[in-house]
Amino acid sequence: MGCGATHLSLALSLMALALAGISIYKNTHVATVMEDFDVKMESNSNILEQNSDMLSQEFCIFAAVGTVVAEAIRRERRMGASLIRLFFHDCFVDGCDGGILLDDIPGSFQGEKTSPPNDNSARGYEVIDQAKQRIKNMCPGAAVSCADILALAARDSVAMLGGLPYPVRLGRRDARTANFIGSLTQLPAPFDDLNTQLRKFRAKGMSAQEMVALAGAHTIGFARCVTMCNDNNINPAMKSTLKCNCPVNNNDTNLVPLDLVTPDFFDKAYFDDLNRNQGLLFSDQVLTGNSTTNDVVRRYSNNGFLFLRDFNAAMIKMGDLPPSPGARLEIRDVCSRVNGNSIADM
Ligand code: HEM
Repeated sequence: MGCGATHLSLALSLMALALAGISIYKNTHVATVMEDFDVKMESNSNILEQNSDMLSQEFCIFAAVGTVVAEAIRRERRMGASLIRLFFHDCFVDGCDGGILLDDIPGSFQGEKTSPPNDNSARGYEVIDQAKQRIKNMCPGAAVSCADILALAARDSVAMLGGLPYPVRLGRRDARTANFIGSLTQLPAPFDDLNTQLRKFRAKGMSAQEMVALAGAHTIGFARCVTMCNDNNINPAMKSTLKCNCPVNNNDTNLVPLDLVTPDFFDKAYFDDLNRNQGLLFSDQVLTGNSTTNDVVRRYSNNGFLFLRDFNAAMIKMGDLPPSPGARLEIRDVCSRVNGNSIADM
């Protein structure tokens, strides 16, 4: 994408976010912003509906996704974290192809949604469905893939939780299948040592520095107790502080923040945690175990702006991971199933 196009896309994104009434808010402003938001949302939706033909298709799409993500984060702040992770889990398995969104078809198709890294863990599917519907309502005729909606929802979440906005290029297409085994082998696991993590990120063209920047997403969001009660998944130093009743029963829904200090804000606190040996996951804390990755951890801990900038650059790069060669692609009408619903094509 050319530099001019990048700037245009960023400008459109910013305008869309502004139109949606979204401020990049910090703790004390959250309540006020969200109160104002109800009023603005209604009038802005009307403005958008009335003037949609004046707005470019892309701008309309950005605004539609932005409003849905803002509503979702207002309902539950953690949803921003979940949407960022959903995008990561989509892109790292056979590229950003919306594969993670496909429902299983009992007896004939098991996709990524129910694979162990995602099952009862990945969240935000309903927000993506709402964004798809909002685009249909607000931007008639817009052809936007579910993979693009994931990319936009992740970007908007970063900006709305306190990170910096960045441009998102549209044009991804949705796969007509998903890769159950791929999500087991291609996604990093909380028990992965540093070399395994580096290998998995290298396989996606990501350097050690880009890996550390992306892992900084753990500055927001939560892990489930069922994950943390497995000793292999946790930083041993954090075991004694864990507020989970282990072993957990099946219904346990307790959560542990990935960043102890500011789990609701997209900031550099995760790297401060790592410096104090307070990373939650085993895979988090091993980043300080090698001089190359530890240097990056220290740099981000010393300079939060550098982290936010590098994180965005790595997200843009991750968002360009292509679907598998030869994959059959389309723009899905419903994000949870392929068009025509023909499993014979899958
Ligand atoms: C580096 C290797 C990584 C490993 C091993 C890893 C592993 C995990 C695990 C185990 C959880 C908790 C899941 C649960 O208990 O249900 C989690 C949560 C999360 N991960 Fe990662 N992750 C990694 C990298 C990333 C990256 C690159 C991103 C995004 C760019 C990301 C974003 C998140 C977010 C935001 C959450 C919280 C989600 C929520 O609260 O719903 N992670 N991760």
